[in-house]
Amino acid sequence: MCGIVGYIGNKEAFPVLINGLKRLEYRGYDSAGVAILNGTLDVYKQQGKVGELEEFVLSQKVQGNVGIGHTRWATHGEPSDANAHPHLSMNGKFSVVHNGIIENYARLKEDLVKHGFVFSSETDTEVLANLIEFFYNQADDISAETAVQLALSKVVGAYGIAVLCSEEKDKIVVARKGSPLVVGLGNGEYFVASDASPIAEFTNHVVYLNDEDVAVLDKNNFTLKNIQNNPVSMKITNLDLEIGELDKGDFEHFMLKEIYEQPKTIEETFRGRLKPEYSEIVLGGLLNVFPRIMEAERIVIVGCGTSWHAALIGEYMLEEYARVPVEVEYASEFRYRKPVLTEKDAVIFISQSGETADTMAALHLAKEKGALVLGICNVVGSSLSRETDAGVYTHAGVEIGVASTKAFTAQVTVLTMFALKLAKAKGNIGEEEYQELVKELSQIPEKGKQVLENNEAIKQVAEKYKDAVNALYLGRGYLFPVALEGALKLKEISYIHAEGYAAGEMKHGPIALVDDNLPVVVVAPHDAYYEKIVSNIQEVKARKGNVIAIVTEGDKGLKEMANDVIEIPKSHPALAPLLAVLPLQLLAYHIALLRGCNVDQPRNLAKSVTVE
Ligand code: F6R
Repeated sequence: MCGIVGYIGNKEAFPVLINGLKRLEYRGYDSAGVAILNGTLDVYKQQGKVGELEEFVLSQKVQGNVGIGHTRWATHGEPSDANAHPHLSMNGKFSVVHNGIIENYARLKEDLVKHGFVFSSETDTEVLANLIEFFYNQADDISAETAVQLALSKVVGAYGIAVLCSEEKDKIVVARKGSPLVVGLGNGEYFVASDASPIAEFTNHVVYLNDEDVAVLDKNNFTLKNIQNNPVSMKITNLDLEIGELDKGDFEHFMLKEIYEQPKTIEETFRGRLKPEYSEIVLGGLLNVFPRIMEAERIVIVGCGTSWHAALIGEYMLEEYARVPVEVEYASEFRYRKPVLTEKDAVIFISQSGETADTMAALHLAKEKGALVLGICNVVGSSLSRETDAGVYTHAGVEIGVASTKAFTAQVTVLTMFALKLAKAKGNIGEEEYQELVKELSQIPEKGKQVLENNEAIKQVAEKYKDAVNALYLGRGYLFPVALEGALKLKEISYIHAEGYAAGEMKHGPIALVDDNLPVVVVAPHDAYYEKIVSNIQEVKARKGNVIAIVTEGDKGLKEMANDVIEIPKSHPALAPLLAVLPLQLLAYHIALLRGCNVDQPRNLAKSVTVE
């Protein structure tokens, strides 16, 4: 959610910044801009995509070795040239790029107006730029770093910022609280970015900033202090990021590439964790806290969006096999609704990015209450991975498509391993069933490849339903969260209104929507609920709804009953979500594409939601 990049060194800054912004564009794409410090402090910014900014700036023949850039997801103020970052302070001394929200910006602005400051945008960031300039002007010996520290001490809210000062020419000041920032350490050069993707091609030595860190980068030095000006120790981390992961390769879109990567990413996620002959599941990150997990009286799983859907599948599995009471919570509700939490609870936070603001706030709350806090996260070095007591990484690789796909199946893979490990440790699962499930998990990648071979058939189904206005997704048991996830995928990238429902709930309301215009996607593979979901399909058909059924291969009955069927291989019901979600991702992808939507950058959305 908003991407920040900065460079100082001997290279031309603009190419580094613009390529960095392209890598960060998934975080926001309402407007983009750069500021270059080369004698003067020059800002180039405009509404629209990074590519448009690039064309504009290239025509200006910009030069300079120091610069900052930004790609925006609008919070305060609509997408426009004026609201695009970088923001200049009133007298042009400071230029600021910012990711986050300054909650008390209105009051700060009022005070600044009283001191004669005038504003040219509606953003909270311009307030920060002027506040920094205000402090800088208070005395001759106040440095840009001090002015930033003083300004941030007045700020309530979240920020990742990079600041240039026209009077301190070889310097970038950066700071974070609540919004991620990582500094790349090069040879005679430094980089800063919201995540490591713009940095990886230049260096694999990085420092992840912590909340309230303020760093000053010049060509030869990198100093780290906090807002109170106390020195802070820095930890240099080795980046493990393949540049190839950041490109689309032969695929038309990141989303399609990521859908197709799933057989591999599921395997990467369980590789080395399922021991030979499936005798043991090893989750090294949980080793030290496992005794405490065993003693937990309750497990709470917290997440947002797609991660919340994965949590629901985890709940079903943990309750069925480990026999532990589980609750699943939206982070945005959990953090505010005064939940009852004690040190006897284990709370699992699930997040692809590890930076989601609501999830992080919920994590802080659970920690405060003394609960054991665990993470399931995809981004190494993210805030979530650093602030939990212990956790398990999903090895999905970088996910760039805004609609989450491979992160979801990796999360479900981790939850499956966790549930089975706990079930076995508690003696609540028979050896035979345990073996069967672990073996089945190891076969999912091959079966997943078979599902993806149906791509052409799914495309044809998409052709039929691309003009739908509404869609309903139904599932039961483990496939209810899959129905929710299928509906979310469709609505976020195709803008068709879609609802996911537990199939048994249909007759309590949504059935009123069914008519001959409504596509109803029913996730109906062979499992214990099969007969019941067939009845639901009949109820839809009786009202002339169009049923698209996801069925176990060879299911003749549903082939006759449904308007369209998409087959998936036979699997254990608890693992069916890992297969059933794949055609739903492809269906949403093709429908969105046929409707001319930007599947990788859907309107109004951004990845890594670092504001609440
Ligand atoms: C949907 C999607 C979002 C995220 C949600 C949580 O496709 O991507 O719903 O799942 O914003 O993000 P993370 O998992 O990064 O906390």
